[in-house]
Amino acid sequence: MSFKIVPMITENEINERIAELGAEISRDYKGEDLLIVGILKGSMPFVCSLMWQIQNEGMSVDYMCVSSYGGETESSGIVRILKDLDESIENKNVLIVEDIVDTGRTMSKLLELLGTRNPKSIKICTLLDKPSRRTVEVKLDYVGFEIENRFVAGFGLDYDQHFRQLKFIGEVVFD
Ligand code: IMP
Repeated sequence: MSFKIVPMITENEINERIAELGAEISRDYKGEDLLIVGILKGSMPFVCSLMWQIQNEGMSVDYMCVSSYGGETESSGIVRILKDLDESIENKNVLIVEDIVDTGRTMSKLLELLGTRNPKSIKICTLLDKPSRRTVEVKLDYVGFEIENRFVAGFGLDYDQHFRQLKFIGEVVFD
């Protein structure tokens, strides 16, 4: 199948929005500890860029690796944990950092799981949100960009494991 990547959100727009999110998060967690939980692999560049923009001396970062797609563009509804957190989240302010919330299935499973570990609070920060695709309701606390129902790649997001390295976000357009 042939396709092309059509630019949608530029590197500049992404960085400016992340700076705004970082400032907002810094204000909201002022005087509090903060544990960033990055969801691999897609959130990798977002976590890096975001943590540089957050002023918080009590901040730490941990990662989970989950898989919900099997190389296709449709969520399977089954969330596999490929790597769990290294640290306990008990009594911590957890901020889940994700690349995109689509149907909401992955995020709702993650919330369910992490919620059983007695964190002090859990919030969600996603770079992209596709609200029109939602099948499970999830409250998103910080959203970079709302997008239409389009399949996108770049800035950590993949199409069949490719294009994560792009510094912009583009739509995958199939011919
Ligand atoms: P959900 O469970 O349907 O919300 O899907 C969430 C996961 O699906 C994200 O973490 C992404 O890995 C993947 N995903 C959803 N939409 C896209 C897309 O447009 N491009 C790349 N990955 C996507």
